[in-house]
Amino acid sequence: AFVVTDNCIRCKYTDCVAVCPVDAFHEGPNFLAINPDVCIDCELCVPECAAAAIFQEDALPEGMEQYLELNAELAQIWPVITEVIDAPLDAEQWDGVEDKREHLII
Ligand code: SF4
Ligand code: F3S
Repeated sequence: AFVVTDNCIRCKYTDCVAVCPVDAFHEGPNFLAINPDVCIDCELCVPECAAAAIFQEDALPEGMEQYLELNAELAQIWPVITEVIDAPLDAEQWDGVEDKREHLII
């Protein structure tokens, strides 16, 4: 499955959800998670993410390993999102900021 990682936090552009053929994305307050049981590894969402936050689970960048389990957990508690919504007003300021895990709101 593909995994949403750190740089989505507080960016949450949601362009990814528009292309997912199986509605695998779940929405939290400032982050999205992919349900690994639903994702079919089509890769369509990867180029849609302006924050370059989505990676294949076997190719996670160093330090992003925790997001594998986190996506699975959060997908169980957050609702599905299928339509693009406005990003946070300060999304661009957060794009590229390192280690945003502490800002994740569950
Ligand atoms: Fe959806 Fe494909 Fe992305 Fe998986 S890889 S979340 S199926 S768009
Ligand atoms: Fe997050 Fe990128 Fe989607 S910032 S909401 S994974 S488009």
